[in-house]
Amino acid sequence: MIKKGEQEDIMNNNIEQKAREILKGMTLNDKIGQVTQIPLVVSKIEDAFKAIRKYRPGSIILAGSAFAGNEKQQALYVEKLNAIQKVAVEELPAGIPLLFGRDIIHGHRVVFPNPLTLTASFDFDLIEQCYQMIREEAYHDGVTWTFSPMIDYCHEPRWGRMVEGPGEDPYLGGLYARAAVRGFQSDNLSEQGAIAACAKHYIGYGASEGGRDYTHTEISDYQLQNNFLAAFREAVKSGVATVMASFNDVNGIPVSGNKPLLTDILRDQLSFDGFVVSDWDGIMQMAKFQGFCADKREAAQKALEAGIDMDMACMSYYDHIHDLIQSGNLDISVLDTAVLRILSVKLRMGLWEHPYVLQKDYDLDSHLKYAEKAAAESIVLLKNNNQILPLKKNSVLYLCGPYADCSEELVGSWSLDCDYSLVHTVSDVMKSKIRSLTVMPLKDSRTTLRNRKSGAEVAVVILGENRAVTGEANSLADISIPPEQLCLLRELKKSGIPIIGVMCFARPIAFGEYDYLFDAILYAGHGGSRAAEAIVSVLFGYSEPGGRLPFTLPYSGNQIPIYYNCLPGSRPVNGYYGEIDPWFCNYADCPDGPNYPFGYGLSYTSFSLSEITCETVNKSMANLSEEDNYMFEIIVKNTGTSAGTAVLQLYVHDLAASRIRPMRSLRSIRRVFLSAGDSCTVTFSVGKEDLGFYLENGTFTLEPGEFDVYIGENCLTDNKIRITLQKE
Ligand code: GLC
Repeated sequence: MIKKGEQEDIMNNNIEQKAREILKGMTLNDKIGQVTQIPLVVSKIEDAFKAIRKYRPGSIILAGSAFAGNEKQQALYVEKLNAIQKVAVEELPAGIPLLFGRDIIHGHRVVFPNPLTLTASFDFDLIEQCYQMIREEAYHDGVTWTFSPMIDYCHEPRWGRMVEGPGEDPYLGGLYARAAVRGFQSDNLSEQGAIAACAKHYIGYGASEGGRDYTHTEISDYQLQNNFLAAFREAVKSGVATVMASFNDVNGIPVSGNKPLLTDILRDQLSFDGFVVSDWDGIMQMAKFQGFCADKREAAQKALEAGIDMDMACMSYYDHIHDLIQSGNLDISVLDTAVLRILSVKLRMGLWEHPYVLQKDYDLDSHLKYAEKAAAESIVLLKNNNQILPLKKNSVLYLCGPYADCSEELVGSWSLDCDYSLVHTVSDVMKSKIRSLTVMPLKDSRTTLRNRKSGAEVAVVILGENRAVTGEANSLADISIPPEQLCLLRELKKSGIPIIGVMCFARPIAFGEYDYLFDAILYAGHGGSRAAEAIVSVLFGYSEPGGRLPFTLPYSGNQIPIYYNCLPGSRPVNGYYGEIDPWFCNYADCPDGPNYPFGYGLSYTSFSLSEITCETVNKSMANLSEEDNYMFEIIVKNTGTSAGTAVLQLYVHDLAASRIRPMRSLRSIRRVFLSAGDSCTVTFSVGKEDLGFYLENGTFTLEPGEFDVYIGENCLTDNKIRITLQKE
């Protein structure tokens, strides 16, 4: 009987053996083609055939430009892609199937909330289901490789690409990575219909200085090991087939030419066994902009030797590897290693068994239902004065704000193939769904509000940012509420009418000094194809606002960087966690803490939490094991009048160690649905991986000492218990 582990070894050995056999039959040009990905935007299919015959590429990127993020691009045609595949498989001598790559980041025809918004659901089972649906749709259109999940650790809200990833916490980043990789690659990457995932951008892109895109990053080994690598470890553990290198340098060495990062850490420390693709032009940029290489030829050599196995779109490998090898500057074994990695992924995918896409229908209605559920679960209720929400179905209300009549803008960046016929506006949905409502558009707000005879009881203001100022090459220096939106809020405030703000900002924004203008706030992010339906559903109580903040909402943009898992300072001064000692403060001219903290979110009901109990608060390092973790219990009770979901979060704080440790580290979450008046006991376990940390060299270390364990509804909870880990 072959055990699972043995089965994998046999499969991997078979795969390596098969890959070597294929390699033997390849010419130098076949190999150079295999490490090349070409963009293919051609009007005539014959031109595509010519390109395949000429370049013999390993992959085609289905993108029209390097800035595909906010473009709507041509739909895909499976029969065309299969015809192109036929040339590669049946006409070229090596007969190696192509990978068709595309940026399927958070949806395809049906678009789910963008990753930062979706992470707010804290519901990773749901997120995995979303990615299974995304996979079905993308594969149906011929995509066999996606450049997703984007898992860049980031607490820099000025950076437009923060919206593409899971936010400021490494633990959530790991859960997101796992959910997306499993969703795309399914249980068995070799089954037809699975799609190769790509963990990106490796690594440190989210630390771009000043939030400016494509800039320098300075990252200590300690931060790299404990924060930036966390999600990539989970992606690798989940079997991610590919990794994309990031544009940035880390401490002066571009990632695209950084062997310690691409080989020593990614492969030797994390045991990644797939292949690495550069980002678009990432190799050439080391010469053209970063001054790390004299020319494209040197860049090609440095990239291949560092561990970039495939060149995306800049033809550096195609143009220079032949000469580098012929001139003796590059050993062919380096090229063979890259080719073998690519062949191994394609063999793992079973592409020789099923090179052509067999379209399978999918349940569009179910996808739309899940898109709305995911969007509603990602909406965060920040404020609800006098329980003004949910609104009555027979309300008389103003509906206003720049995004009340928008649809596309709320879908989010990187929605290349969105079917916009499925996307609606809040205004249309509200009027069609809530028949007994009286919706009064507030066009000329100044005069209308002055006469105050409208009879409107409340104003629902749909604020936000256009997706066109989010995503790649779209950073903002100013992350406050745009002036024209502020002006509307002030007019409404003067009229005395209660204001419900629906904030469709994909990134965190800073509005601490204007928070008083709102009576209630829903942070809705960019909710995808069903954003409008979800917003209306939550406003009127058909759904609860299920989200919790996966990021910090600063009081002011001038506080940046401000994030929850910060390291303690040298005095009792860490304002994020309140006045430790009133004598000290971070700022004399601004509150120290955030407007709303990481993990925060209200419900339409309320919950009480008991104290935390733990059978054994003292353990020795010797007996701490999977079977013998610290076990905690807490009783949560729904003390409100309606059913709702509590999102319990467990944080750890190591009080003393050989490196100073974060004030809080999220290590576990539990979503608990309770009817009004009901309660239940929730258990958590804490083990080595929660109490230990990585040293600069990547060694995981567990040190004895005292730890505070917090369990609450956001990172500022004071509900804690102290445990001790003894040496013996
Ligand atoms: C872009 C992005 C990357 C994307 C790639 C292909 O420049 O940096 O995230 O996957 O190019 O479109």
